[in-house]
Amino acid sequence: MKILTLSHDEIHRGSLILVNQSHALDEGAAEDLIPVTRSEPSVLLQRPAAQALAGLMDAIEGWQHIAFVSAWRSRREQQEIWDDSLRENGPEFTRTYVALPGHSEHQTGLAIDLGAKQEQIDFIRPEFPCTGPCRDFRERAAEFGFILRYPQGKEDVTGIGHEPWHFRYVGTPHAIIIQKQDMTLEEYTDYLKRFPRGKCLRCVTEDGREACLSYIEACADRMRLKLAEDGPYTLSGNNVDGFILTEWR
Ligand code: DAL
Ligand code: ZN
Repeated sequence: MKILTLSHDEIHRGSLILVNQSHALDEGAAEDLIPVTRSEPSVLLQRPAAQALAGLMDAIEGWQHIAFVSAWRSRREQQEIWDDSLRENGPEFTRTYVALPGHSEHQTGLAIDLGAKQEQIDFIRPEFPCTGPCRDFRERAAEFGFILRYPQGKEDVTGIGHEPWHFRYVGTPHAIIIQKQDMTLEEYTDYLKRFPRGKCLRCVTEDGREACLSYIEACADRMRLKLAEDGPYTLSGNNVDGFILTEWR
């Protein structure tokens, strides 16, 4: 048996954190950022997201066709993008397509904007069409742990306009469940609260592995968590009020 000690602050870390208008990023949280590829050292993501993205680009042979438009951003960069957009595009456009500084997924190092490679690429709204390599990317994104974060028809839930270019790493099996159930990360965060420890959500991945997902409310400053089995697991905060434990069987 393994015992984990969790501190309340850790709810702000991990690949399942919800960052939106209502839930700011904890800017004190340290991130392990690495370049997705050596040839573009300024395109940084958190290590698991960078590795998954490189794997997906290999799998679809996308390197020649898909551009990394914007990955990790500092708060200062997000503020500059916000200010520039307000000046150039006005408040309505800016609120629709740019997250408030301190509330952008780009500041987490878990999100990336992609564009079809072409001479001119729009920085705020790059083209990412439903054809060719971009379609291949979309079709296999969930298998590698990525979701389309701002889907059409869910603008009221996410608070952001439809962004076919913005992908968010949440890991597996979460991306697959989110996609199959047509959810946003906001909806998934709520949904998982139905599965406390002992009543976990079981799912079997396409390669036959079984995962058991449970929600753990952060009810104290320090908590002890007993893991029954020695199998692999991941633990992430939800940036709201608790943790998601993913145990692989
Ligand atoms: N474009 C997304 C919403 C951001 O600025 O984080
Ligand atoms: Zn984006």
